[in-house]
Amino acid sequence: MPTVLVTGASRGIGREFVLQYRKAGWRVIATCRDPGGAGLKNSDAFELDVSDPVSIKNVANILAGDPIDLLINNAGIHLAKHANFGNLDYDAWDEVMWINVLAPLRVAECFAPHVALSDRKQMVFVSSIMGSIENNSGGMPIYRSSKAALNQAVRSVAPELRSKGITSLLIHPGWVRTDMGGPNAAIDAQTSVRGMRETIEGLTLAMAGTYVNYDGNPIPW
Ligand SMILES: NC(=O)c1ccc[n+]([C@@H]2O[C@H](COP(=O)([O-])OP(=O)(O)OC[C@H]3O[C@@H](n4cnc5c(N)ncnc54)[C@H](OP(=O)(O)O)[C@@H]3O)[C@@H](O)[C@H]2O)c1
Repeated sequence: MPTVLVTGASRGIGREFVLQYRKAGWRVIATCRDPGGAGLKNSDAFELDVSDPVSIKNVANILAGDPIDLLINNAGIHLAKHANFGNLDYDAWDEVMWINVLAPLRVAECFAPHVALSDRKQMVFVSSIMGSIENNSGGMPIYRSSKAALNQAVRSVAPELRSKGITSLLIHPGWVRTDMGGPNAAIDAQTSVRGMRETIEGLTLAMAGTYVNYDGNPIPW
């Protein structure tokens, strides 16, 4: 059975990835800041704070030599307060860039050897349509710029990953009813994750570094 590692597995979309892949019989390595509090305690649940390089390296070291077929960089934040022009919170911006851009790349670097050891060799980065420059109707510069930067960073490392046989993908989960998406969002986490799993299942090396919706349709950069 393949192995998947998920960041931000405590709630929302990450939590649903864990439930669905477990149900499908995969080995699921669930990582989050507080596995006990999230009810995720088992031998494949690890404490991992993506903002902390030591925390990432610790888990990568514990799992050294373990193949990871699919790495899902899901953890992310959206700090909505003081996020509009004239009232921008630069400390919040700094934090969002750390969690949404630097952290997933650091996780990818630390776990690349594990992914390279596996059969499937896939890295998925949960982005957002909010990162699209072409589709931008304005507003939310902090969150949008973080996901645009994530897109650019992943697109930039995709050829290097591809040379190791690793396929990377940037995926928009849809507007999803989670703490982040809110109660009025368009779809539930089950529908989003079911769609993303199908898209990931059909992933080929030729699609490395592409930016798609949860249903697999391309999103303009
Ligand atoms: N919901 C949407 O409509 C939507 C749309 C587009 C993109 N996305 C993206 O989808 C991903 C998941 O979002 P969601 O809707 O599931 O959000 P959510 O319900 O707010 O959950 C966010 C997850 O990220 C984790 N996280 C935050 N900071 C972390 C850190 N420093 N270390 C480890 N984990 C951390 C949280 O863990 P804690 O429980 O420890 O806080 C939580 O598990 C994000 O990347 C988000 O940007 C969501």
